[in-house]
Amino acid sequence: MQRSIERALEVLAGGCDSPVRSGWSAGLPMFVQASAAGAYAYDESGRRYIDYVMAYGPLLFGHTHPELVTGLDSLAEHGLVWGTTHGEEIRLAERIRAYLPSMQRLRFVTTGTEAMMSAVRVARAFTGRSRILKFAGNYHGHFDPALIDAGASAGAGGGGIPQSVRADVLVARYNDLASVDELLEGDETGLAAIMVEPIGANMGLVQPADGFLEGLLQRARRAGALLIFDEVITWLRFGLRGAQDRTPVVPDLTALGKIMGGGLPIAAFGGRRDAMAVLAPEGETFTGGTHGGNPFCVGMAHRVLDVLEAHPEYYAYMDGLARRLAAGFREIFTRRGLPYTVVQQESVVDFKFRAGTPAQNYDDACSADRTAFARYCKAMLERGVLLAPSQNEVMFLSTAHTAQDVDETLAAAEFALGAAATRNDLRAQ
Ligand SMILES: Cc1ncc(COP(=O)(O)O)c(C=O)c1O
Repeated sequence: MQRSIERALEVLAGGCDSPVRSGWSAGLPMFVQASAAGAYAYDESGRRYIDYVMAYGPLLFGHTHPELVTGLDSLAEHGLVWGTTHGEEIRLAERIRAYLPSMQRLRFVTTGTEAMMSAVRVARAFTGRSRILKFAGNYHGHFDPALIDAGASAGAGGGGIPQSVRADVLVARYNDLASVDELLEGDETGLAAIMVEPIGANMGLVQPADGFLEGLLQRARRAGALLIFDEVITWLRFGLRGAQDRTPVVPDLTALGKIMGGGLPIAAFGGRRDAMAVLAPEGETFTGGTHGGNPFCVGMAHRVLDVLEAHPEYYAYMDGLARRLAAGFREIFTRRGLPYTVVQQESVVDFKFRAGTPAQNYDDACSADRTAFARYCKAMLERGVLLAPSQNEVMFLSTAHTAQDVDETLAAAEFALGAAATRNDLRAQ
């Protein structure tokens, strides 16, 4: 692994394609992966790790669900990319709209970044305004305005982002409508959009407080701006109808990605018919790309929906496993007198190295003990459990994980939490 890290550092910028993977934010060595199967990642020595990174969210079925990875020739036999509109993408759009009726019209792109970037462009074109309000600790990809005070992949500073971009971005506190009002006071007329993760998953797992999303919609309406839900993580992670099925709030625009491609790069954005009408050729706003609606990826997205429709029991299975994991962590914390709070929603489990109630916003998330987390994460790796090397990330379970994996993980955590114990932990008791 050491040799690969050296080679990576020599030829890949920073040794990686995405900084969080490098382990840099937690001061951990980079994990170099050789293969994967089911719930497991394997390093170059062939050692097996129970994988809770799950590629940062897309792998709802683990790495190699047979219904996704077999018969791929049949997806390829009519060609891989066409550059034309085709029946299967129309059918995919119809299937998505049946689950997410707020997406009256949509367009396919390649990544979640592109989906959110395009949604923002639509909002700006539709409103004729440029300002965006976002939340510290939400992550929407790596286009310029999204990176300001982002969660998960943040921490790199703001290199390459012009001041002029910053001038158009307001950053509020998640779950804090007063902070939204403060930023908008006397300045609503320039607002194009409010963009939000309807369930936060990039500063740990953070639930929207009662009335928060409703409050955002009211404020967007009052300002004449659009509300954009970033469901890149939440759609399909939290059911076929996503986070928007759990709130009366209907977003104007939505971005999708990650799980919908089953491991292949496909994403989508869409929403109100009148807003989407700004896009060329109907309107004067351009989004487009060589791989938009790529038939191979579209074929995989159909498979993902096919699997979920054929296996409605999958969500309850993952929820059961995640409950077992969360209960196990709680039991260990109680026994060891550790003050951490475990949060779990369906297949997502999370805790921070901080005392008190679950994090409500990025300030809370950032108050966690980074050193204790780094020790814990390293010790978990030594015990064969792969966690994302950043405390802003969460643990993703999949249909491939088993109760035995969960129990092995808890045994590893018992050891790792001993290794992570710091004087801070003791003071917090
Ligand atoms: C909520 C959310 N939105 C957007 C993105 C960007 O997606 P991608 O990495 O596919 O560009 C991410 C990626 O982690 C995300 O978590």
